[in-house]
Amino acid sequence: MHNEGSKVIDETRQGEAVMMDGVKSSNGKKLFLESYGCAMNFADSEVVASILTGEGFTTTKDVNEADVVFINTCSIRDNAEQRVRARLHDFKKAKKSKPGLIVGILGCMAERIKSQLLEEEKLIDIVAGPDSYRDLPHLIEQVEGGQKAVNVLLSREETYADISPVRLDSNGVTAFVSIMRGCDNMCAFCVVPFTRGRERSRDPKSIAEEAHELFENGYREVTLLGQNVDSYLWWGGGQKKDLPIDIVHKALNHELPDDEQAKFTTFADLMEMVAQINPELRIRFSTSNPRDITDAVLHVMAKYDNLCKYIHLPVQAGNSGMLERMNRGYTRDQYMQKIEAIRRILPGCAVSTDIICGFCGETEEEHNDTLSLMEWSEFNYAYMYKYSERPGTAAAKKMPDDITEEVKSRRLTQVVEMQQKLSKAHTLTGLNKVHKVLIEGTSKKSKEMLYGRNGENAVVVFPKENYKPGEYVNVLATSCTVATLIGNVVNN
Ligand code: 5AD
Ligand code: SF4
Repeated sequence: MHNEGSKVIDETRQGEAVMMDGVKSSNGKKLFLESYGCAMNFADSEVVASILTGEGFTTTKDVNEADVVFINTCSIRDNAEQRVRARLHDFKKAKKSKPGLIVGILGCMAERIKSQLLEEEKLIDIVAGPDSYRDLPHLIEQVEGGQKAVNVLLSREETYADISPVRLDSNGVTAFVSIMRGCDNMCAFCVVPFTRGRERSRDPKSIAEEAHELFENGYREVTLLGQNVDSYLWWGGGQKKDLPIDIVHKALNHELPDDEQAKFTTFADLMEMVAQINPELRIRFSTSNPRDITDAVLHVMAKYDNLCKYIHLPVQAGNSGMLERMNRGYTRDQYMQKIEAIRRILPGCAVSTDIICGFCGETEEEHNDTLSLMEWSEFNYAYMYKYSERPGTAAAKKMPDDITEEVKSRRLTQVVEMQQKLSKAHTLTGLNKVHKVLIEGTSKKSKEMLYGRNGENAVVVFPKENYKPGEYVNVLATSCTVATLIGNVVNN
């Protein structure tokens, strides 16, 4: 769900910082909020906006009229952090011309560099980690009283379940709904378990209520978000950390006796709950994990038309030794078996992936295994990155970052070229077929055209006529670019 690697195709995995506005006011103070990184960060910014508009703030797109500037940051790779640091220098200028301006760093960069930021970057007033957003009004008060303010405590409980996000920069059709926070997987390269803390699931009732409210407000697609949605688990008593591990394992795999299993909500159960809200509400989710995805999830996807036939299943690498060094918890064969299960239970389902090039000790043979697995899997889309060592991770502690920049770049290019070939082949198979498309907005290339997506997440463009965002249309695809289908509405 991150953005600054090489990506083929998908525009939902937003790359650009988005400036947000559009909320009600009353205390006269204005908030400028800018987000980097994954969908989860964008969803978090909507929680921040909700908390602060509740305190009377209005949001603004114009940094010059802001009283408070918050940057919601990403740490996943070094270049994400460098981009935020560069952006901070722009705010230095803003602060010079407006000395009372409060500047805060939110999100994943907060914990790791709190002291450095406050000392070296005199301009930063607030540092707040992903679990401390309820504390923001108090942190702002502290700064107004002349102090710097920091809260980077991570929680084992916080899910912001009761906070109704303020939809920012919205198209009014698609929205993110956070279903869990944190990650316990400890992949060797990944900083997320350190920046976002332990995994916890959100009360399913609050998730279904949020999705229902979105539908009532005209939204027609929700994306359920978590670092590892397949390990979502809720039981009457709360979080799975309070249960014996063997019960958790059985519950996640639907292996308890029926009356016991009924006390739990797994991801498959949650999907079913949300699917039943309305057949006109389409549901996507991200991110699945090859170690944890169950057949139960695939069967529930097969059962409901409004559960989109698209799975993001990051493989990271195609060689079992490499996957072990990465601590991914599956082998090449096990990954292939998951793909086979998807093909069997959900024929035609689109699958995308994430790939890291040049992880510690990667040999030419291991790299070639990644290429061959991509080809075998026929991924529809992929997000591809050069390995970037992150301080504090197992890889940083134990394995030298020994692949040269030159080799990383060359391998990344090969992986990107492979994916382009696969993506193009998929797009071509969409030609001369009718696609059910949810309209999201006006095409970037022409005001006369609308765009939307089919269930498999392919972008489809067609003439506007009298159709509107939020409507479903059937489009016969007659031509295409590498990644986009182009056609006309038929027999709607
Ligand atoms: N270097 C490069 N890519 C990384 N990712 C996570 N950590 C790193 C890292 N240190 C990628 C993985 C993950 C995606 C969100 O970001 O592919 O699935
Ligand atoms: Fe990072 Fe692995 Fe968790 Fe994904 S599953 S957030 S890559 S630790």
